[in-house]
This record gives sequence, structure tokens and C-alpha cells, in this order.
Amino acid sequence: MTVGFIGTGAISEAIITGLLTAGNYSGQILITRRSNARSARLVRSFPSITIYDDNQSLVDNCDLVIIAVLPEQCEAVLKQLHFRSTQTIISLVSGTKLSILAPLLSPATKIHRAVPMPPVEIGKGPIPVCPPDPLVEAFFQNIGQVIPLNDEAHFRTFAAGSAVMATFFRWVAENAAWMAAQGVPDDQAALYSASLTEALANLTLAANPQQLQALSQECLTAGGLNEQVLRELEKQDWFAAMNTALDGIMRRLENSSNGK
Ligand SMILES: NC(=O)c1ccc[n+]([C@@H]2O[C@H](COP(=O)([O-])OP(=O)(O)OC[C@H]3O[C@@H](n4cnc5c(N)ncnc54)[C@H](OP(=O)(O)O)[C@@H]3O)[C@@H](O)[C@H]2O)c1
Repeated sequence: MTVGFIGTGAISEAIITGLLTAGNYSGQILITRRSNARSARLVRSFPSITIYDDNQSLVDNCDLVIIAVLPEQCEAVLKQLHFRSTQTIISLVSGTKLSILAPLLSPATKIHRAVPMPPVEIGKGPIPVCPPDPLVEAFFQNIGQVIPLNDEAHFRTFAAGSAVMATFFRWVAENAAWMAAQGVPDDQAALYSASLTEALANLTLAANPQQLQALSQECLTAGGLNEQVLRELEKQDWFAAMNTALDGIMRRLENSSNGK
């Protein structure tokens, strides 16, 4: 199968790197000569990639088209292009609904949305796909955990749930920086914080939904250190603030017709 990327930005690079390293992808990959430094780097790293100077030539030569431009660019880019009814299209464009995409991609009707996250570069992370499709799921299955979704409203909730990534990194970094501020060497503090979060994340992956909700409680020795931190953060309404922030993301996604 030949896959072509419209948009050679950060997420396209992560997917392509994942496919051609962790993913052992054996199909052909096409990109356009956009984001010059990035497209040149991709072709240098993976000489099997074919680079096109214009979007239409790329579309004409692939079976699966990935749309990975910014929301505000999407409509103008797609209006210029002609698709085939036999092609499968995956849009990664945030907030742009299937009902907006359909007329822009006609006569193609096999249209899907997906939200791969940057760790696909190392073959990891959730990839919500809506609506589900065997070809799309097979395409992503070696670079992450595909989550097939029939309901586009649920898909939107998953997209909102992805907004905690920067907060997570800040959390890990703050823990390391706090330890370093007490006089621990930077590299040891960073290693400790990263290694702890990796181990804890592995426990969450092994847990069912009920076990996941119980994990925090299970760490709480009465009068212990974990209990003290959790209770202080609860008193400062940390978790209520997180829920409020995610509600705000949902409202933003619900109100957007084109992802703004
Ligand atoms: N980054 C993520 O983690 C992530 C995750 C899931 C979904 N997404 C979604 O994926 C989309 C891309 O995100 P991104 O972070 O990869 O953005 P990005 O790094 O800004 O990439 C956008 C790409 O679109 C290209 N582009 C702009 N106009 C174009 C045109 N007329 N024809 C062809 N290419 C054009 C840009 O090229 P130039 O640089 O040459 O202008 C750039 O390569 C967004 O809609 C975003 O919501 C992103």
C-alpha cells in the first residue's frame, strides 16, 4: 500500500519515523516538499521515501492519504485537490468534523479521523480512529494502541483527553527540578523522576478501569508521605481544576467547525 502525507509537520514526521523504525512498514511513503528542513531530514533518514513538489501529484499516486495540515489550512488545501472514490483518507486535523470533510474529499467516501500522538515515533501511545476500519487500524497497529470508535462525539472526548500531554511533562520535570533544587545532581533527579513515572505508567496499563481508580488509594499509607502530598493537592483543588480545564477543551472542540 502507498500512503501519502499532505502536510510534512511534526505529527507526520513522528508517524513516518514510527512506521519505518518500530513499525517495520513495508509499503511506499510519499511526502511533499513542505517544511523544508523536516522533509529533507526525512528523506535523508529514510531514502525509500518519495518526495513530491505538489499535493495533487502525491494524491494521484497513493491509496491512503493522510491529511496533516493545521485546522486553519485544511479547507483551502483540500479545495484544491481531487481525490478518487477508491482512496481511503485519514484526517488528523483537530476539530474538523467528518461532515465538514466529506464534501471537500468527495468522491472519496472512506473518510476517517485519527489522533496519533508524538510517541508513535517510538511505536507507542493511543490512536483513536473514527469510524473504525480494518485498513486504517492495520496501518496504525504497529505504532500504537488503536482505539476504534463509532461515535464521533466519543472521538472528540478522546481528542480532549490528549490535551494533558504538556501537563504530564511539566509534572515529571517539576518533580526532577524540585529534587535538583534540594542539591541532588540534575541527571540523577531527572533519571529518578522519569524512571518513576515510567514504572507507574506501566502499572496503569495493566489495570482495568476499577483498578485504575483504586491505584492512588492503594499508595496511601495512613499518615505516610504520599497521603500528605495527595491531601494537600486535593485541598488546593488540583483535580477539580484539571476537570475544569478538560471541560474547557471539550467546549472548544464542540464549538469548532474547523478546529479553531
Ligand atoms: N502535533 C501533534 O502532536 C498532533 C497530534 C494529532 C493531531 N495533530 C493535528 O495534525 C495536524 C498537523 O499538526 P502538526 O503539529 O504536524 O502541524 P505542523 O508541524 O505545523 O505541520 C503542518 C504542516 O502542513 C504543511 N502545510 C501548510 N500548508 C500546506 C499546503 N498548502 N500544502 C501542503 N502542506 C501544507 C506545513 O508546511 P510548511 O511548514 O511548509 O508551511 C507543515 O508541514 C493539525 O491539524 C493538528 O491538529 C497534531
